[in-house]
Amino acid sequence: MYESGIASVQGVWWKPAHRAEKVWIAIAFIWCMVLFAMMPLWHLRGGQNPTGIRHRVEPADFRERTNEFIAAYQVGEDAGMPIVEPPPGSDVYLIGMMWQWRPILRLQAGAEYTLHLSSVDVNHGFNLYPFNVNFQVVPGYDYALKVTPTEAGEFRIVCNEFCGVGHHLMVGRIEVVPADATAAADVGDDR
Ligand code: CUA
Repeated sequence: MYESGIASVQGVWWKPAHRAEKVWIAIAFIWCMVLFAMMPLWHLRGGQNPTGIRHRVEPADFRERTNEFIAAYQVGEDAGMPIVEPPPGSDVYLIGMMWQWRPILRLQAGAEYTLHLSSVDVNHGFNLYPFNVNFQVVPGYDYALKVTPTEAGEFRIVCNEFCGVGHHLMVGRIEVVPADATAAADVGDDR
């Protein structure tokens, strides 16, 4: 006898499920419940949420605050982009905008700073190259992150959120100087 769509295949679905099948259903159900519980638990205890201080901010206000910060601590300039060396422990401002990171920051290794990140136009992505440090930079929010650079050197900030035709050009710079270097010693030496 042949099988067709009209004459359905004889099945076994009306027979009681095998014990192994019941065990697997039980395991799958328990695992579903574990994952379900992890959603709220991870939110509260997972430590993956931004630990910084978060505020709403008007983009214009953030831009103004950053300009004050630049005016207060500027030590040089590179192709029109100010280089700013704030004192250890201070609040540091960094704007993501189409298509630059403003300003260039010069920080001391081993010192803690509060890094304020925001955008004045669209979403950008802060990626500290070559480290796996990533952060969403969103207009309207000031994300203040406690940061302590551990290594001296020059680091790039790459935008990793597509933000328009100049996205690939949106590269910024953070310079980390050894703890004993002073601002006065390298004014005018921008590289
Ligand atoms: Cu900013 Cu891509």
